[in-house]
Amino acid sequence: MGKTSPIGIFDSGVGGLTVVKALLEQMPAESFIYFGDTANVPYGNKSREQLFNYAHKIISFLIKKKVKAIIIACGTHSSITLPELSRHYSLPMLGVVKAGARAAVKCSKNGKIGIAATQATVNSLAYSREIKNICPGFEVYETACSRFVPLVESGRLYGEEVNKAVREYIGPLLERGIDTLVLGCTHYPFLVPAIEGFAGKNIITVDPSCQTIVEIREVFSQKGMLNDDNCRAFHHFYVSGNDDSFYKVGKNLIGDTLKEVRKVNLD
Ligand code: DGL
Repeated sequence: MGKTSPIGIFDSGVGGLTVVKALLEQMPAESFIYFGDTANVPYGNKSREQLFNYAHKIISFLIKKKVKAIIIACGTHSSITLPELSRHYSLPMLGVVKAGARAAVKCSKNGKIGIAATQATVNSLAYSREIKNICPGFEVYETACSRFVPLVESGRLYGEEVNKAVREYIGPLLERGIDTLVLGCTHYPFLVPAIEGFAGKNIITVDPSCQTIVEIREVFSQKGMLNDDNCRAFHHFYVSGNDDSFYKVGKNLIGDTLKEVRKVNLD
């Protein structure tokens, strides 16, 4: 593996494409291999054991593709499996939660932060822990938004159904007086127009993807792993389940970078 090797990225479905967007903007020279585990979406209601089982299969697949590092573009895995996985594998592995927590504390003026995430992430309290490690006095309110992932996976980003879910989940966080809202599941930034439309201009929404890419750039710089070659970057997409839907929805989310989706069976 060298500097020009691709980065491996994975999530349950299209959510990790928020991380892909940030990568394309901030590090366009990097190639990547994306894996959407659409056979097992959603991850948010899965057990620890199931999550580890999926992660090991996907990481082995990506390692066989000779990736130089892995971005776990999933709040759920970053909260639950990442600490153990990064001890188990020798290649650099980064998630979105620590980065999201660091970005949030920089944004908040009143020290009250809301976390919108999957049920599994909320149960893990990973965001509360990370934020309180940096700023012990901060108040963190976490809420599970279970209907958001199916909405995004089916390409429904606007409309009454979305607005209703946003009101139901985000309303109680606003009542706590938060000034910063972390979109703690990588699917949620695709709902930003609806979320910001409801929350209003005084609330800062944090997409952890941006800070994640800032941090992976730092890791690559320190380790001499940045791709400074002028070759054209390549972008490959794999899924474990429905490839048609991933293609249609994904293309709408990230445009022409998504040219083809290959379906693979990891079992
Ligand atoms: N996008 C992932 C996350 O950030 C997984 C969501 C899901 O499949 O429930 O948590």
